[in-house]
Amino acid sequence: MCGIVGYIGKNEKKQIILNGLKELEYRGYDSAGMAVMKDGELSFFKAVGKLENLAHKCHDFLSEGEGLAIGHTRWATHGKPNEINAHPHLGEYSCVIHNGIIENYKELKDKLLKENIEFLSQTDTEIIVKLFEFYAQKMDLFNAFKKSIEELKGAFAILLISKKDENKVFFAKNGAPLIVGKNSQKEFWFASADAPLIGFCDEVIYLEDLSLGYASKDELVIYENGILKNNTFVKLNNDKSYAQKDGFRFFMEKEIYEQSRVLNEVLMGRIKGDEVVFDELENENLTAIDEITLCACGTSYHAALVGMYLLERVAKIKARVEIASEFRYRKALIKKDSLFIVISQSGETADTLEALKIAKAEGAKTFAICNVDNSSIVRLAHLSLLTRAGIEKGVASTKAFATQVLTLWMFAIFIAQKKALNVNEEIKALLHTPSCVVVKQILHDKIHRLSKRYLDGHGFFYIGRDVFYPLALEGALKLKELSYLHAEGYPAGEMKHGPIALVDSKLYTIALMPENLLYEKTKSNVEELIARDSTLLSISPLDFDLSDDFIKTSKQNHFMCEFFEMMLITQLLAMEISIRLGNDVDMPRNLAKSVTVE
Ligand code: F6R
Repeated sequence: MCGIVGYIGKNEKKQIILNGLKELEYRGYDSAGMAVMKDGELSFFKAVGKLENLAHKCHDFLSEGEGLAIGHTRWATHGKPNEINAHPHLGEYSCVIHNGIIENYKELKDKLLKENIEFLSQTDTEIIVKLFEFYAQKMDLFNAFKKSIEELKGAFAILLISKKDENKVFFAKNGAPLIVGKNSQKEFWFASADAPLIGFCDEVIYLEDLSLGYASKDELVIYENGILKNNTFVKLNNDKSYAQKDGFRFFMEKEIYEQSRVLNEVLMGRIKGDEVVFDELENENLTAIDEITLCACGTSYHAALVGMYLLERVAKIKARVEIASEFRYRKALIKKDSLFIVISQSGETADTLEALKIAKAEGAKTFAICNVDNSSIVRLAHLSLLTRAGIEKGVASTKAFATQVLTLWMFAIFIAQKKALNVNEEIKALLHTPSCVVVKQILHDKIHRLSKRYLDGHGFFYIGRDVFYPLALEGALKLKELSYLHAEGYPAGEMKHGPIALVDSKLYTIALMPENLLYEKTKSNVEELIARDSTLLSISPLDFDLSDDFIKTSKQNHFMCEFFEMMLITQLLAMEISIRLGNDVDMPRNLAKSVTVE
């Protein structure tokens, strides 16, 4: 979610770091910072907001000559996006940058606080440098670094430099990407993605998880799982657009493939034993709330609908959903003691923001589920939870939807726990969800092949029941946005009340038929459509001979695991149809990523 760059060499370090961060800025731009070590002097700069603010701050600083530098662009996960929380984080004589989340930072911080070590920021990252300097009192720097890293739980890519060894960059990688590059002048570079290295490095090492080591002007030492490695560099692919998309054809495709990782990030640090823990909500009395309103637009509205089903089923709390553009003018009644949840990827959607203002003015407790810290919506709401999807570049939302649904499900479980309801099965299923959205090549190939049969027709009906109804709505929206074909999402049981009149062989039905929720009921509804000759693509773990096309999903024990797998299939299907039609997948016509107008 953040971007990291590092450099050891004699060229102008400030500019190298700024240029590198520019390539990564789309991954996070809440704040940026850099530290430069030259002639034993450590200089550092931090700025809130876009990279240009950092460039402005260090405008007069020059850093030519042998030395080293590290830089970071931030997407806030712990602590507000202010200067104190920006990286690098400083100890007395060292500093660190980090991408990822340290799950056990609270325990480590408590341990260091007992040693009278002081903290300035609210971040998880600061504990790394403080832990390092704590151990460095007792052992050499590399062992202090190693010992610190061994104590971290979670995902991280880390660069650390110290005045006590002005020639070395210490690095560690686990669960977040980190690359070491080398150029013809034998200088070493570091980055969290290929893009900053292209044009500057010829060869790279993509570090594996559980790697750590150090680099200096003439030396690169890498340990993997405690074992010293041979430094085997591979040639760097020099195509920049390929690098930004990590080899995928479109940002949307990349974001679909990222979903398993981002769902892990949503869970990270929020499941302790068999409980959902939200530090942000620790001091709130949520059991006193007897009604929840969820409000959003577009895809986020579909996530809100899923949230409504889950809040009522899992947390036994009354919930309703509002489309923000409708809500803001309909003089809706809001109970003073109710909770008003707004859901937004961007945090800037005008209708959602306005609905939030209205609910707040009416005295409701307001709560934002949002992907962008410090966005207008997060700043305005009383409470907020970040969805941790990272920047979503594809205009059609994919991973943001996945993280919204997962966060809402966790929130429902969180309330259920407070009410002492049994949520053991939910927790087991929750932990399993990241594996349900891993894209298997065989599945993607099959959807690619099937897509050629769905390029025309006079319409698509996506149908499902319960939470699979909002998923049907979302599947249809993805297809509409990307293929420009008419598609509707409908509750499976509602087709017979009118839309069935449209059915013939050129009406395509995409049926979501999970095994663990109302299978027989959905099947009957689908059979009614087949009887009228609709062309049917069914998605289910159970074979269904009447289908024209069939995508078999995995056997699962919980309907939400089926939900996430089917979500993935609908996203891939929409994308593959769009590619065949020659449309612009990442920027479909007439759309914008953040709708800040009414
Ligand atoms: C569809 C899509 C939009 C957004 C909607 C709300 O793929 O992305 O429907 O979901 O414009 O945007 P946010 O979530 O930023 O409030």
